[in-house]
Amino acid sequence: MKAILCKQHGPPESLVYEDTADPTAEAGEVVIDVKAAGVNFPDTLIIENKYQFKPDLPFSPGGEVVGIVSQVGAGVKHLKKGDRAMALMTFGGFAEKARVPGQTALPIPEEMPFTDAAGFPLVYGTVIYALKQRARLQKGETLLVNGAAGGVGLAAVQLGKIMGARVIAAASTDEKLAICKQHGADELINYSEDTPFKEQVKALTDGQGADVIFDPVGGDIFDQCLSCINWNGRLLVIGFASGTIPSAAANRILLKNCAVMGVFWGRFTALEPEANLANFRQLLKWYSAGEFRPEVSQTYRLENAAQALNDMLARKATGKLVLTVD
Ligand SMILES: NC(=O)c1ccc[n+]([C@@H]2O[C@H](COP(=O)([O-])OP(=O)(O)OC[C@H]3O[C@@H](n4cnc5c(N)ncnc54)[C@H](OP(=O)(O)O)[C@@H]3O)[C@@H](O)[C@H]2O)c1
Repeated sequence: MKAILCKQHGPPESLVYEDTADPTAEAGEVVIDVKAAGVNFPDTLIIENKYQFKPDLPFSPGGEVVGIVSQVGAGVKHLKKGDRAMALMTFGGFAEKARVPGQTALPIPEEMPFTDAAGFPLVYGTVIYALKQRARLQKGETLLVNGAAGGVGLAAVQLGKIMGARVIAAASTDEKLAICKQHGADELINYSEDTPFKEQVKALTDGQGADVIFDPVGGDIFDQCLSCINWNGRLLVIGFASGTIPSAAANRILLKNCAVMGVFWGRFTALEPEANLANFRQLLKWYSAGEFRPEVSQTYRLENAAQALNDMLARKATGKLVLTVD
């Protein structure tokens, strides 16, 4: 098969597109003939050896795929050869065939196109867990989403609306904010403007601040969140796309009576697989009812994976970027 390979750590340009051995499903695994693969921020980190998981070289990056099940290992009961399925893994997805743990592979509804499914599990799985199990977002609460036009950000805008919140979307350009509006955001904040971000949030919340803040950006934006969070607020630590890991000022946490909550969805799926499955049943129900559609802003052929990763790093992406395989 053909695959994108990381043979030495480095930027996306150092990836190669080469022939490599086909994978074989071991017990508990399935092999999926990949039709499309989601591009995610961790893919940009793992090839630079800056991610928490450090696979041996050479390896294919890529953490989520969708396609047709072609091999089923012993012990996997919920899938059979020929099923359409989406699956998650730490790496190995940017390839024509992917070997995945059976418990992360789920059948997809007939009406779901491969491109929608490719960008589905990681962002929506993370966001429902963050909003439901971690923040316990309530109807009528105000949800502020930073990096709101990005992968997890746009999913947070959509699911926040479905869960009955008033959603404030914050992003760096008016073009990105227009996409957030199309997906249901009630209020928009451009954090590249001169007015400080925290003042813009307060102006939209009668000076109270947001009840729940979803932050995949980190850096200065995160620091300002502790000045514009409401009493009893919950600040969700999702990621650090800005490249800067912030420190939370304990005095502000005390004064706001708020909680700063870590969200490690991958670990949740391993520790609480039943709760994760229930989340996916809910997500697919909402999807099938037409309550939301993933925003796939661009597709690339598998061999152009480096371009997709560079576009993500250059903040050009809105919603999801997806690689396709003929
Ligand atoms: N905790 C978990 O379980 C979990 C799960 C999935 C993802 N994540 C993390 O969430 C973060 C976002 O992932 P994603 O897939 O949504 O990425 P993405 O699609 O690239 O979105 C990230 C957003 O961050 C903003 N940003 C600010 N500074 C940036 C910079 N220097 N470079 C790139 N983007 C920057 C951009 O929006 P603006 O231009 O509007 O600022 C961008 O839209 C990553 O850190 C990822 O590792 C965590």
